[in-house]
Amino acid sequence: MRSADWYGGNSKDSYIHRAWMRRGNPDSAFNATRPQIAIINTASDLAPCNLHLDEVAQSVKNGIWEAGGVPHNLPMVSLGETNVRPTAMLWRNMVAMATEEMIRANPVDGVVLLGGCDKTIPALLMGAASVNLPAIVVPGGPMLNGTFKGERLGCGTGVWKFSEAVRAGTMSQEDFNNSEKSMIRSKGHCNTMGTASTMGSLAEALGMVLPGTAGTPAVDSRLLQAAHESGIRIVDMVSEDLKPTDIMTIGSFTNAIVALGAIGGSTNAVVHLLAIAGRLGIKLTLDDFDRIGSRIPLLVNLQPAGEYLMEDLFRAGGLAAVMKEVEKHLDRSAITVTGKPYVDSLNGAEIYDNKVIKKYESPLQPEAGIAVLRGNIAPDGAVIKPAAASQNLLVHTGKAVIFESIEDFHARIDDPSLDVDENSVLVLRGCGPKGYPGMPEVSNMAIPKKLLEKGVLDLVRICDGRMSGTAFGTVVLHVSPEAALGGPLAKLQNGDIIELNVPARTLNVKISDAELAARVPSQAMTDALARPARGWEHLYIEHVEQAHLGADLDFLRGASGSQTPRESH
Ligand code: FES
Repeated sequence: MRSADWYGGNSKDSYIHRAWMRRGNPDSAFNATRPQIAIINTASDLAPCNLHLDEVAQSVKNGIWEAGGVPHNLPMVSLGETNVRPTAMLWRNMVAMATEEMIRANPVDGVVLLGGCDKTIPALLMGAASVNLPAIVVPGGPMLNGTFKGERLGCGTGVWKFSEAVRAGTMSQEDFNNSEKSMIRSKGHCNTMGTASTMGSLAEALGMVLPGTAGTPAVDSRLLQAAHESGIRIVDMVSEDLKPTDIMTIGSFTNAIVALGAIGGSTNAVVHLLAIAGRLGIKLTLDDFDRIGSRIPLLVNLQPAGEYLMEDLFRAGGLAAVMKEVEKHLDRSAITVTGKPYVDSLNGAEIYDNKVIKKYESPLQPEAGIAVLRGNIAPDGAVIKPAAASQNLLVHTGKAVIFESIEDFHARIDDPSLDVDENSVLVLRGCGPKGYPGMPEVSNMAIPKKLLEKGVLDLVRICDGRMSGTAFGTVVLHVSPEAALGGPLAKLQNGDIIELNVPARTLNVKISDAELAARVPSQAMTDALARPARGWEHLYIEHVEQAHLGADLDFLRGASGSQTPRESH
Protein backbone atom coordinates (compact mmCIF):
# COMPACT_ATOMS: atom_id res chain seq x y z
CA MET A 1 0.00 0.00 0.00
CA ARG A 2 1.36 3.43 -0.98
CA SER A 3 0.33 4.95 2.36
CA ALA A 4 2.62 2.51 4.22
CA ASP A 5 5.44 4.73 3.05
CA TRP A 6 4.10 7.32 5.47
CA TYR A 7 2.67 5.18 8.27
CA GLY A 8 4.69 1.96 8.26
CA GLY A 9 7.71 1.21 10.52
CA ASN A 10 9.07 2.72 13.71
CA SER A 11 11.09 5.66 12.47
CA LYS A 12 10.84 9.24 13.62
CA ASP A 13 9.10 10.07 10.35
CA SER A 14 6.42 7.38 10.62
CA TYR A 15 5.88 8.43 14.25
CA ILE A 16 5.23 12.00 13.06
CA HIS A 17 2.86 10.94 10.26
CA ARG A 18 0.83 8.69 12.56
CA ALA A 19 0.81 10.94 15.61
CA TRP A 20 -0.65 13.95 13.84
CA MET A 21 -3.29 11.81 12.12
CA ARG A 22 -4.53 10.01 15.29
CA ARG A 23 -7.23 12.48 16.38
CA GLY A 24 -9.44 9.67 17.59
CA ASN A 25 -8.60 7.21 14.82
CA PRO A 26 -8.01 3.65 16.13
CA ASP A 27 -4.51 2.09 16.03
CA SER A 28 -5.74 -0.15 13.23
CA ALA A 29 -6.28 2.90 11.01
CA PHE A 30 -2.55 2.79 10.29
CA ASN A 31 -2.35 -0.91 9.45
CA ALA A 32 -0.62 -1.51 6.16
CA THR A 33 -3.68 -3.49 5.02
CA ARG A 34 -6.13 -0.60 5.39
CA PRO A 35 -6.33 1.67 2.32
CA GLN A 36 -6.29 5.39 2.99
CA ILE A 37 -8.95 6.95 0.80
CA ALA A 38 -9.20 10.67 0.01
CA ILE A 39 -12.69 12.00 -0.68
CA ILE A 40 -11.95 14.91 -2.96
CA ASN A 41 -14.82 17.17 -2.17
CA THR A 42 -15.77 20.27 -4.15
CA ALA A 43 -18.47 21.36 -1.68
CA SER A 44 -18.45 25.15 -1.30
CA ASP A 45 -20.89 27.84 -0.30
CA LEU A 46 -19.82 29.69 -3.44
CA ALA A 47 -20.45 26.68 -5.68
CA PRO A 48 -24.15 26.31 -4.85
CA CYS A 49 -24.66 23.29 -7.11
CA ASN A 50 -22.13 21.41 -4.94
CA LEU A 51 -23.32 22.69 -1.60
CA HIS A 52 -24.70 19.30 -0.53
CA LEU A 53 -21.53 17.33 -1.23
CA ASP A 54 -20.53 17.35 2.46
CA GLU A 55 -23.60 15.19 3.11
CA VAL A 56 -22.64 12.93 0.21
CA ALA A 57 -19.10 12.73 1.58
CA GLN A 58 -20.43 11.48 4.91
CA SER A 59 -22.14 8.56 3.16
CA VAL A 60 -18.96 7.82 1.23
CA LYS A 61 -17.05 7.83 4.51
CA ASN A 62 -19.47 5.37 6.07
CA GLY A 63 -18.95 3.01 3.14
CA ILE A 64 -15.17 3.30 3.32
CA TRP A 65 -15.10 2.50 7.07
CA GLU A 66 -17.50 -0.39 6.50
CA ALA A 67 -15.21 -1.91 3.86
CA GLY A 68 -12.09 -1.56 6.02
CA GLY A 69 -10.61 1.59 4.55
CA VAL A 70 -9.84 4.88 6.26
CA PRO A 71 -11.60 7.94 4.78
CA HIS A 72 -10.24 11.48 4.64
CA ASN A 73 -12.19 14.48 3.46
CA LEU A 74 -9.97 16.53 1.12
CA PRO A 75 -11.67 19.85 0.28
CA MET A 76 -10.82 20.97 -3.21
CA VAL A 77 -11.02 24.35 -4.91
CA SER A 78 -14.53 24.55 -6.28
CA LEU A 79 -16.07 26.41 -9.19
CA GLY A 80 -19.56 27.84 -9.08
CA GLU A 81 -20.37 28.30 -12.75
CA THR A 82 -22.69 31.24 -12.19
CA ASN A 83 -20.34 33.03 -9.79
CA VAL A 84 -16.81 32.74 -11.00
CA ARG A 85 -15.47 35.50 -13.26
CA PRO A 86 -14.26 35.88 -15.91
CA THR A 87 -15.30 32.26 -16.48
CA ALA A 88 -15.06 29.00 -14.53
CA MET A 89 -13.23 27.48 -17.49
CA LEU A 90 -10.21 29.66 -16.70
CA TRP A 91 -9.86 27.69 -13.47
CA ARG A 92 -10.72 24.14 -14.63
CA ASN A 93 -7.07 23.35 -15.25
CA MET A 94 -6.08 24.87 -11.91
CA VAL A 95 -8.50 22.56 -10.08
CA ALA A 96 -7.17 19.65 -12.14
CA MET A 97 -3.62 20.58 -11.19
CA ALA A 98 -4.49 20.99 -7.51
CA THR A 99 -6.30 17.63 -7.55
CA GLU A 100 -3.32 15.91 -9.11
CA GLU A 101 -0.79 17.47 -6.76
CA MET A 102 -2.79 16.95 -3.56
CA ILE A 103 -3.44 13.28 -4.30
CA ARG A 104 0.23 12.69 -4.94
CA ALA A 105 1.47 14.73 -1.99
CA ASN A 106 -0.67 12.91 0.59
CA PRO A 107 -0.71 9.40 2.10
CA VAL A 108 -3.49 8.20 -0.16
CA ASP A 109 -4.15 4.85 -1.86
CA GLY A 110 -7.37 5.64 -3.70
CA VAL A 111 -9.75 8.55 -4.27
CA VAL A 112 -13.46 9.26 -4.43
CA LEU A 113 -14.24 12.30 -6.56
CA LEU A 114 -17.25 14.43 -5.60
CA GLY A 115 -18.33 16.97 -8.21
CA GLY A 116 -21.39 18.36 -9.86
CA CYS A 117 -21.30 21.91 -11.21
CA ASP A 118 -19.98 22.08 -14.76
CA LYS A 119 -16.19 22.15 -14.48
CA THR A 120 -15.83 20.16 -11.29
CA ILE A 121 -16.19 16.58 -12.58
CA PRO A 122 -13.95 17.21 -15.64
CA ALA A 123 -11.26 18.83 -13.47
CA LEU A 124 -11.35 16.01 -10.90
CA LEU A 125 -11.16 13.37 -13.62
CA MET A 126 -8.24 15.14 -15.31
CA GLY A 127 -6.27 15.35 -12.05
CA ALA A 128 -7.06 11.79 -10.96
CA ALA A 129 -6.17 10.45 -14.42
CA SER A 130 -2.73 12.04 -14.20
CA VAL A 131 -2.01 10.36 -10.85
CA ASN A 132 -3.68 7.08 -11.81
CA LEU A 133 -4.52 5.76 -8.36
CA PRO A 134 -7.84 3.85 -8.10
CA ALA A 135 -10.62 6.43 -8.43
CA ILE A 136 -14.40 6.53 -8.52
CA VAL A 137 -16.72 9.48 -9.21
CA VAL A 138 -19.92 10.22 -7.32
CA PRO A 139 -21.82 12.83 -9.35
CA GLY A 140 -23.72 15.21 -7.05
CA GLY A 141 -26.89 14.92 -9.10
CA PRO A 142 -29.36 17.39 -10.58
CA MET A 143 -31.85 19.54 -8.70
CA LEU A 144 -35.58 18.91 -8.91
CA ASN A 145 -37.70 20.25 -11.77
CA GLY A 146 -38.49 23.94 -11.64
CA THR A 147 -41.96 25.09 -12.67
CA PHE A 148 -43.39 28.50 -13.50
CA LYS A 149 -47.08 29.09 -14.24
CA GLY A 150 -47.62 25.37 -14.63
CA GLU A 151 -44.77 24.86 -17.13
CA ARG A 152 -41.42 23.16 -16.56
CA LEU A 153 -38.73 25.74 -15.95
CA GLY A 154 -35.23 24.52 -16.71
CA CYS A 155 -32.06 26.06 -15.28
CA GLY A 156 -30.29 28.26 -17.77
CA THR A 157 -32.58 27.40 -20.67
CA GLY A 158 -35.45 29.27 -19.00
CA VAL A 159 -33.24 32.29 -18.40
CA TRP A 160 -32.21 32.50 -22.05
CA LYS A 161 -35.80 32.06 -23.25
CA PHE A 162 -37.39 34.47 -20.80
CA SER A 163 -34.79 37.21 -21.25
CA GLU A 164 -35.36 37.07 -25.02
CA ALA A 165 -39.12 37.17 -24.41
CA VAL A 166 -38.77 40.32 -22.30
CA ARG A 167 -36.67 41.94 -25.01
CA ALA A 168 -39.24 40.91 -27.62
CA GLY A 169 -42.03 42.36 -25.48
CA THR A 170 -43.84 39.04 -25.04
CA MET A 171 -43.09 38.67 -21.31
CA SER A 172 -43.42 41.28 -18.57
CA GLN A 173 -40.48 42.29 -16.42
CA GLU A 174 -42.56 41.34 -13.37
CA ASP A 175 -43.09 37.78 -14.62
CA PHE A 176 -39.41 37.55 -15.45
CA ASN A 177 -38.47 38.59 -11.91
CA ASN A 178 -41.01 36.22 -10.35
CA SER A 179 -39.79 33.25 -12.38
CA GLU A 180 -36.36 33.62 -10.73
CA LYS A 181 -37.73 32.22 -7.46
CA SER A 182 -39.14 29.14 -9.20
CA MET A 183 -36.04 28.00 -11.02
CA ILE A 184 -33.79 26.57 -8.30
CA ARG A 185 -36.04 24.39 -6.13
CA SER A 186 -33.54 22.17 -4.38
CA LYS A 187 -29.93 21.24 -3.88
CA GLY A 188 -28.12 19.84 -6.89
CA HIS A 189 -26.77 21.04 -10.23
CA CYS A 190 -28.68 22.38 -13.23
CA ASN A 191 -31.62 20.20 -14.17
CA THR A 192 -31.39 20.67 -17.93
CA MET A 193 -29.10 18.60 -20.16
CA GLY A 194 -26.43 21.23 -19.61
CA THR A 195 -22.79 20.61 -18.95
CA ALA A 196 -23.17 19.30 -15.40
CA SER A 197 -25.82 16.73 -16.36
CA THR A 198 -23.79 15.84 -19.43
CA MET A 199 -20.51 15.36 -17.59
CA GLY A 200 -22.10 13.34 -14.78
CA SER A 201 -23.63 11.07 -17.43
CA LEU A 202 -20.41 10.85 -19.44
CA ALA A 203 -18.38 10.03 -16.34
CA GLU A 204 -20.68 7.02 -15.97
CA ALA A 205 -20.44 6.13 -19.67
CA LEU A 206 -16.64 6.33 -19.29
CA GLY A 207 -16.97 3.70 -16.57
CA MET A 208 -15.86 5.92 -13.68
CA VAL A 209 -19.19 5.91 -11.77
CA LEU A 210 -21.05 3.02 -10.19
CA PRO A 211 -23.52 2.18 -12.98
CA GLY A 212 -26.98 3.60 -12.39
CA THR A 213 -25.83 6.49 -10.21
CA ALA A 214 -25.49 9.40 -12.66
CA GLY A 215 -28.62 11.47 -12.90
CA THR A 216 -29.94 10.48 -9.47
CA PRO A 217 -31.48 13.72 -8.20
CA ALA A 218 -29.43 15.38 -5.47
CA VAL A 219 -32.31 15.10 -2.99
CA ASP A 220 -33.03 11.43 -3.72
CA SER A 221 -31.97 9.09 -0.90
CA ARG A 222 -30.66 6.70 -3.52
CA LEU A 223 -27.81 9.15 -4.15
CA LEU A 224 -26.61 8.69 -0.57
CA GLN A 225 -26.97 4.94 -0.97
CA ALA A 226 -24.85 5.08 -4.13
CA ALA A 227 -22.32 7.25 -2.28
CA HIS A 228 -22.13 4.66 0.51
CA GLU A 229 -21.69 1.86 -2.04
CA SER A 230 -19.02 3.88 -3.87
CA GLY A 231 -17.14 4.12 -0.56
CA ILE A 232 -17.26 0.34 -0.25
CA ARG A 233 -16.25 -0.15 -3.84
CA ILE A 234 -13.17 2.12 -3.78
CA VAL A 235 -11.66 0.02 -1.00
CA ASP A 236 -12.03 -3.09 -3.16
CA MET A 237 -10.65 -1.22 -6.17
CA VAL A 238 -7.47 -0.47 -4.22
CA SER A 239 -6.99 -4.15 -3.39
CA GLU A 240 -7.70 -5.04 -7.03
CA ASP A 241 -5.39 -2.21 -8.21
CA LEU A 242 -8.10 -1.15 -10.67
CA LYS A 243 -6.90 2.20 -11.96
CA PRO A 244 -8.26 4.95 -14.25
CA THR A 245 -6.02 3.75 -17.10
CA ASP A 246 -7.66 0.30 -16.84
CA ILE A 247 -11.12 1.86 -17.12
CA MET A 248 -10.77 4.93 -19.34
CA THR A 249 -9.62 3.41 -22.62
CA ILE A 250 -10.35 4.46 -26.18
CA GLY A 251 -13.34 2.10 -25.96
CA SER A 252 -14.81 3.96 -23.01
CA PHE A 253 -14.34 7.30 -24.79
CA THR A 254 -16.27 5.78 -27.70
CA ASN A 255 -19.06 4.96 -25.27
CA ALA A 256 -18.98 8.48 -23.84
CA ILE A 257 -19.23 10.03 -27.32
CA VAL A 258 -22.16 7.75 -28.19
CA ALA A 259 -23.82 8.81 -24.94
CA LEU A 260 -23.18 12.48 -25.76
CA GLY A 261 -25.18 12.08 -28.99
CA ALA A 262 -28.01 10.03 -27.51
CA ILE A 263 -28.60 12.38 -24.58
CA GLY A 264 -28.12 15.53 -26.67
CA GLY A 265 -25.34 16.60 -24.32
CA SER A 266 -23.44 19.85 -24.04
CA THR A 267 -20.84 20.96 -26.57
CA ASN A 268 -18.58 21.61 -23.58
CA ALA A 269 -18.12 17.86 -23.31
CA VAL A 270 -15.86 18.06 -26.35
CA VAL A 271 -13.16 20.14 -24.64
CA HIS A 272 -13.53 18.17 -21.41
CA LEU A 273 -13.27 14.70 -22.97
CA LEU A 274 -10.31 15.82 -25.12
CA ALA A 275 -8.56 17.12 -22.01
CA ILE A 276 -9.24 13.96 -19.97
CA ALA A 277 -8.02 11.77 -22.85
CA GLY A 278 -4.90 13.96 -23.06
CA ARG A 279 -4.07 13.11 -19.44
CA LEU A 280 -4.34 9.39 -20.24
CA GLY A 281 -2.25 9.51 -23.42
CA ILE A 282 -5.29 8.46 -25.47
CA LYS A 283 -5.24 9.84 -28.99
CA LEU A 284 -8.75 11.23 -29.12
CA THR A 285 -9.30 13.94 -31.75
CA LEU A 286 -12.03 16.41 -32.61
CA ASP A 287 -12.85 14.34 -35.68
CA ASP A 288 -13.61 11.31 -33.47
CA PHE A 289 -16.61 13.19 -32.10
CA ASP A 290 -18.03 13.58 -35.59
CA ARG A 291 -17.03 10.10 -36.75
CA ILE A 292 -18.43 8.28 -33.71
CA GLY A 293 -21.15 10.55 -32.48
CA SER A 294 -22.69 12.70 -35.18
CA ARG A 295 -24.94 9.96 -36.57
CA ILE A 296 -26.23 8.86 -33.17
CA PRO A 297 -29.94 9.63 -32.82
CA LEU A 298 -31.17 12.01 -30.15
CA LEU A 299 -33.22 9.90 -27.75
CA VAL A 300 -33.59 12.13 -24.72
CA ASN A 301 -36.30 14.77 -24.79
CA LEU A 302 -34.67 17.19 -22.35
CA GLN A 303 -34.19 20.93 -22.43
CA PRO A 304 -32.45 22.72 -24.10
CA ALA A 305 -33.12 20.53 -27.18
CA GLY A 306 -36.46 19.18 -25.89
CA GLU A 307 -39.09 19.54 -23.18
CA TYR A 308 -38.28 17.65 -20.01
CA LEU A 309 -35.72 17.86 -17.19
CA MET A 310 -33.30 15.55 -15.38
CA GLU A 311 -35.80 14.43 -12.75
CA ASP A 312 -37.99 13.19 -15.61
CA LEU A 313 -35.07 11.37 -17.21
CA PHE A 314 -34.29 9.53 -13.98
CA ARG A 315 -37.95 8.54 -13.58
CA ALA A 316 -38.10 7.39 -17.20
CA GLY A 317 -35.27 4.88 -16.76
CA GLY A 318 -32.18 7.07 -16.63
CA LEU A 319 -28.96 6.85 -18.58
CA ALA A 320 -29.01 3.04 -18.62
CA ALA A 321 -32.31 2.98 -20.52
CA VAL A 322 -30.88 5.41 -23.06
CA MET A 323 -27.64 3.49 -23.49
CA LYS A 324 -29.51 0.21 -23.87
CA GLU A 325 -31.12 1.70 -26.99
CA VAL A 326 -27.74 2.54 -28.55
CA GLU A 327 -26.02 -0.63 -27.34
CA LYS A 328 -25.00 -1.71 -30.83
CA HIS A 329 -22.77 1.39 -31.06
CA LEU A 330 -20.97 0.70 -27.78
CA ASP A 331 -17.53 -0.76 -27.23
CA ARG A 332 -18.17 -4.05 -25.44
CA SER A 333 -14.67 -4.33 -24.03
CA ALA A 334 -14.81 -1.13 -21.98
CA ILE A 335 -15.18 -1.78 -18.25
CA THR A 336 -16.41 0.24 -15.30
CA VAL A 337 -15.31 0.74 -11.71
CA THR A 338 -16.99 -2.61 -11.03
CA GLY A 339 -14.32 -4.31 -13.15
CA LYS A 340 -17.08 -5.62 -15.43
CA PRO A 341 -17.99 -4.52 -18.98
CA TYR A 342 -20.08 -1.36 -19.17
CA VAL A 343 -22.56 -3.07 -21.47
CA ASP A 344 -23.27 -5.68 -18.76
CA SER A 345 -24.63 -2.91 -16.57
CA LEU A 346 -27.35 -2.25 -19.14
CA ASN A 347 -28.97 -5.67 -18.73
CA GLY A 348 -32.55 -5.18 -17.64
CA ALA A 349 -32.61 -1.45 -18.38
CA GLU A 350 -36.02 -0.29 -19.57
CA ILE A 351 -37.76 2.83 -20.75
CA TYR A 352 -40.63 3.71 -18.40
CA ASP A 353 -41.79 6.87 -20.14
CA ASN A 354 -41.31 7.09 -23.88
CA LYS A 355 -42.20 10.75 -23.98
CA VAL A 356 -38.90 11.40 -22.19
CA ILE A 357 -36.72 8.62 -23.62
CA LYS A 358 -37.37 7.67 -27.23
CA LYS A 359 -36.79 4.31 -28.84
CA TYR A 360 -33.86 4.02 -31.25
CA GLU A 361 -36.29 3.53 -34.14
CA SER A 362 -38.30 6.67 -33.40
CA PRO A 363 -35.85 9.25 -32.12
CA LEU A 364 -36.42 12.90 -31.42
CA GLN A 365 -33.89 13.63 -34.16
CA PRO A 366 -32.16 11.05 -36.36
CA GLU A 367 -28.65 12.53 -36.02
CA ALA A 368 -27.76 14.49 -32.94
CA GLY A 369 -24.12 14.34 -31.97
CA ILE A 370 -21.55 17.07 -32.37
CA ALA A 371 -20.71 18.09 -35.94
CA VAL A 372 -17.14 19.24 -36.59
CA LEU A 373 -16.75 21.99 -39.17
CA ARG A 374 -13.65 23.04 -41.07
CA GLY A 375 -12.87 25.67 -43.66
CA ASN A 376 -10.90 28.85 -44.14
CA ILE A 377 -12.45 30.37 -40.99
CA ALA A 378 -11.62 27.35 -38.81
CA PRO A 379 -8.67 25.41 -40.24
CA ASP A 380 -8.28 23.46 -36.98
CA GLY A 381 -11.99 22.94 -36.53
CA ALA A 382 -15.13 24.32 -34.92
CA VAL A 383 -18.17 22.55 -33.50
CA ILE A 384 -21.93 22.89 -33.70
CA LYS A 385 -24.70 20.97 -32.00
CA PRO A 386 -27.28 20.41 -34.75
CA ALA A 387 -29.84 19.15 -32.23
CA ALA A 388 -29.97 22.59 -30.62
CA ALA A 389 -29.89 24.50 -33.93
CA SER A 390 -32.62 25.65 -36.32
CA GLN A 391 -32.80 23.10 -39.08
CA ASN A 392 -33.41 25.79 -41.74
CA LEU A 393 -30.12 27.50 -40.84
CA LEU A 394 -27.86 24.46 -41.07
CA VAL A 395 -27.10 25.44 -44.67
CA HIS A 396 -26.90 29.20 -44.76
CA THR A 397 -25.11 32.08 -46.46
CA GLY A 398 -25.13 35.54 -44.96
CA LYS A 399 -23.21 38.74 -44.36
CA ALA A 400 -20.94 38.98 -41.32
CA VAL A 401 -21.66 41.43 -38.52
CA ILE A 402 -18.49 41.59 -36.44
CA PHE A 403 -18.13 42.16 -32.69
CA GLU A 404 -14.69 42.55 -31.17
CA SER A 405 -15.72 41.55 -27.64
CA ILE A 406 -18.80 40.66 -25.64
CA GLU A 407 -18.77 44.23 -24.31
CA ASP A 408 -18.78 45.55 -27.88
CA PHE A 409 -21.68 43.20 -28.60
CA HIS A 410 -23.72 44.40 -25.62
CA ALA A 411 -23.05 48.04 -26.53
CA ARG A 412 -24.25 47.73 -30.13
CA ILE A 413 -26.62 44.79 -30.53
CA ASP A 414 -29.80 46.76 -29.88
CA ASP A 415 -28.68 49.88 -31.73
CA PRO A 416 -31.48 50.49 -34.26
CA SER A 417 -28.89 51.57 -36.83
CA LEU A 418 -26.96 48.27 -36.64
CA ASP A 419 -26.77 46.82 -40.14
CA VAL A 420 -28.26 43.41 -39.39
CA ASP A 421 -31.15 41.36 -40.78
CA GLU A 422 -32.52 37.83 -40.53
CA ASN A 423 -29.86 36.53 -42.93
CA SER A 424 -26.91 38.08 -41.12
CA VAL A 425 -24.22 36.00 -39.45
CA LEU A 426 -23.13 37.37 -36.06
CA VAL A 427 -19.40 36.94 -35.43
CA LEU A 428 -17.95 37.37 -31.95
CA ARG A 429 -14.20 37.05 -31.49
CA GLY A 430 -11.59 37.41 -28.77
CA CYS A 431 -13.32 34.73 -26.67
CA GLY A 432 -10.85 31.87 -27.08
CA PRO A 433 -8.76 30.22 -24.35
CA LYS A 434 -5.98 32.83 -24.48
CA GLY A 435 -7.90 35.84 -25.72
CA TYR A 436 -10.57 36.25 -23.04
CA PRO A 437 -8.84 34.47 -21.22
CA GLY A 438 -10.57 31.20 -20.39
CA MET A 439 -12.98 30.64 -23.30
CA PRO A 440 -16.22 31.86 -21.68
CA GLU A 441 -19.78 30.80 -22.47
CA VAL A 442 -20.74 33.90 -24.42
CA SER A 443 -21.14 32.48 -27.91
CA ASN A 444 -24.93 32.23 -27.90
CA MET A 445 -25.27 35.96 -28.52
CA ALA A 446 -28.74 37.38 -28.02
CA ILE A 447 -30.78 38.18 -31.11
CA PRO A 448 -30.97 41.92 -31.95
CA LYS A 449 -34.11 43.48 -30.47
CA LYS A 450 -35.33 44.80 -33.79
CA LEU A 451 -35.23 41.26 -35.24
CA LEU A 452 -36.85 39.71 -32.16
CA GLU A 453 -39.72 42.14 -32.59
CA LYS A 454 -40.12 40.85 -36.15
CA GLY A 455 -40.32 37.29 -34.80
CA VAL A 456 -36.77 36.22 -35.70
CA LEU A 457 -35.67 33.78 -32.97
CA ASP A 458 -32.41 32.43 -34.36
CA LEU A 459 -29.44 33.58 -36.42
CA VAL A 460 -26.22 31.87 -37.40
CA ARG A 461 -23.63 32.89 -34.84
CA ILE A 462 -19.90 32.15 -34.89
CA CYS A 463 -17.45 32.49 -32.01
CA ASP A 464 -14.14 31.19 -30.70
CA GLY A 465 -15.65 30.82 -27.22
CA ARG A 466 -18.03 28.28 -25.74
CA MET A 467 -21.78 28.13 -25.13
CA SER A 468 -23.59 27.05 -22.00
CA GLY A 469 -24.86 23.50 -22.31
CA THR A 470 -28.26 24.88 -21.37
CA ALA A 471 -28.33 27.21 -24.37
CA PHE A 472 -29.62 26.65 -27.88
CA GLY A 473 -29.45 28.12 -31.35
CA THR A 474 -27.45 27.80 -34.57
CA VAL A 475 -24.17 28.64 -32.92
CA VAL A 476 -20.76 27.64 -34.27
CA LEU A 477 -18.37 27.36 -31.34
CA HIS A 478 -14.76 26.67 -30.40
CA VAL A 479 -13.40 28.14 -33.66
CA SER A 480 -9.76 27.15 -33.77
CA PRO A 481 -7.26 28.72 -33.95
CA GLU A 482 -8.77 31.53 -31.92
CA ALA A 483 -8.79 35.13 -33.09
CA ALA A 484 -6.38 36.41 -30.43
CA LEU A 485 -3.75 34.04 -31.82
CA GLY A 486 -4.23 35.57 -35.26
CA GLY A 487 -6.59 32.87 -36.53
CA PRO A 488 -8.64 33.69 -39.63
CA LEU A 489 -11.56 34.73 -37.42
CA ALA A 490 -9.47 37.82 -36.54
CA LYS A 491 -9.39 38.82 -40.22
CA LEU A 492 -13.11 38.76 -40.98
CA GLN A 493 -14.71 42.09 -41.82
CA ASN A 494 -18.25 43.42 -41.68
CA GLY A 495 -20.10 42.42 -44.84
CA ASP A 496 -17.94 39.39 -45.63
CA ILE A 497 -20.06 36.58 -47.06
CA ILE A 498 -20.03 33.59 -44.69
CA GLU A 499 -21.07 30.13 -45.85
CA LEU A 500 -22.14 27.54 -43.29
CA ASN A 501 -22.93 24.04 -44.51
CA VAL A 502 -23.37 21.62 -41.63
CA PRO A 503 -24.18 18.54 -43.75
CA ALA A 504 -20.97 19.19 -45.72
CA ARG A 505 -19.15 20.10 -42.47
CA THR A 506 -17.81 23.38 -43.86
CA LEU A 507 -17.47 26.95 -42.62
CA ASN A 508 -15.96 29.45 -45.03
CA VAL A 509 -15.68 33.11 -45.84
CA LYS A 510 -16.07 33.73 -49.56
CA ILE A 511 -12.79 35.43 -50.31
CA SER A 512 -9.68 34.05 -51.96
CA ASP A 513 -6.88 32.43 -50.01
CA ALA A 514 -4.60 35.21 -51.20
CA GLU A 515 -6.89 37.94 -49.90
CA LEU A 516 -7.38 36.18 -46.56
CA ALA A 517 -3.62 35.74 -46.19
CA ALA A 518 -3.01 39.39 -47.04
CA ARG A 519 -5.49 40.75 -44.48
CA VAL A 520 -4.12 41.77 -41.10
CA PRO A 521 -5.90 40.70 -37.89
CA SER A 522 -8.10 43.37 -36.34
CA GLN A 523 -6.30 45.68 -33.93
CA ALA A 524 -8.52 44.54 -31.07
CA MET A 525 -7.33 40.97 -31.54
CA THR A 526 -3.70 42.05 -31.78
CA ASP A 527 -4.18 43.93 -28.51
CA ALA A 528 -5.94 41.03 -26.77
CA LEU A 529 -2.78 39.35 -25.56
CA ALA A 530 -0.88 42.54 -24.88
CA ARG A 531 -2.40 43.22 -21.47
CA PRO A 532 -0.36 42.36 -18.37
CA ALA A 533 -1.26 39.18 -16.49
CA ARG A 534 0.13 37.67 -13.32
CA GLY A 535 -0.30 34.55 -11.23
CA TRP A 536 -2.53 31.82 -12.60
CA GLU A 537 -3.77 33.94 -15.48
CA HIS A 538 -0.21 34.50 -16.65
CA LEU A 539 0.58 30.78 -16.45
CA TYR A 540 -2.69 29.94 -18.19
CA ILE A 541 -2.25 32.32 -21.12
CA GLU A 542 1.34 31.17 -21.63
CA HIS A 543 0.49 27.49 -21.69
CA VAL A 544 -3.16 26.85 -22.56
CA GLU A 545 -3.71 24.87 -25.73
CA GLN A 546 -6.38 25.56 -28.32
CA ALA A 547 -9.94 24.29 -28.07
CA HIS A 548 -9.50 21.49 -30.61
CA LEU A 549 -6.91 19.97 -28.25
CA GLY A 550 -9.05 20.30 -25.11
CA ALA A 551 -7.73 23.63 -23.76
CA ASP A 552 -5.51 21.95 -21.16
CA LEU A 553 -2.14 23.41 -20.23
CA ASP A 554 0.57 22.03 -22.48
CA PHE A 555 2.72 20.89 -19.54
CA LEU A 556 -0.19 19.03 -17.89
CA ARG A 557 -0.80 16.62 -20.75
CA GLY A 558 -0.02 13.05 -19.84
CA ALA A 559 0.53 11.59 -16.39
CA SER A 560 3.13 11.99 -13.72
CA GLY A 561 2.00 8.97 -11.74
CA SER A 562 1.54 8.21 -8.08
CA GLN A 563 5.14 7.89 -6.97
CA THR A 564 5.68 8.88 -3.35
CA PRO A 565 7.46 12.23 -3.01
CA ARG A 566 10.56 12.72 -0.81
CA GLU A 567 10.13 12.84 2.95
CA SER A 568 9.31 16.23 4.44
CA HIS A 569 11.33 16.06 7.65
FE1 FES B 1 -23.86 24.69 -11.55
FE2 FES B 1 -25.37 24.87 -13.83
S1 FES B 1 -24.61 26.47 -12.57
S2 FES B 1 -24.51 23.15 -12.88
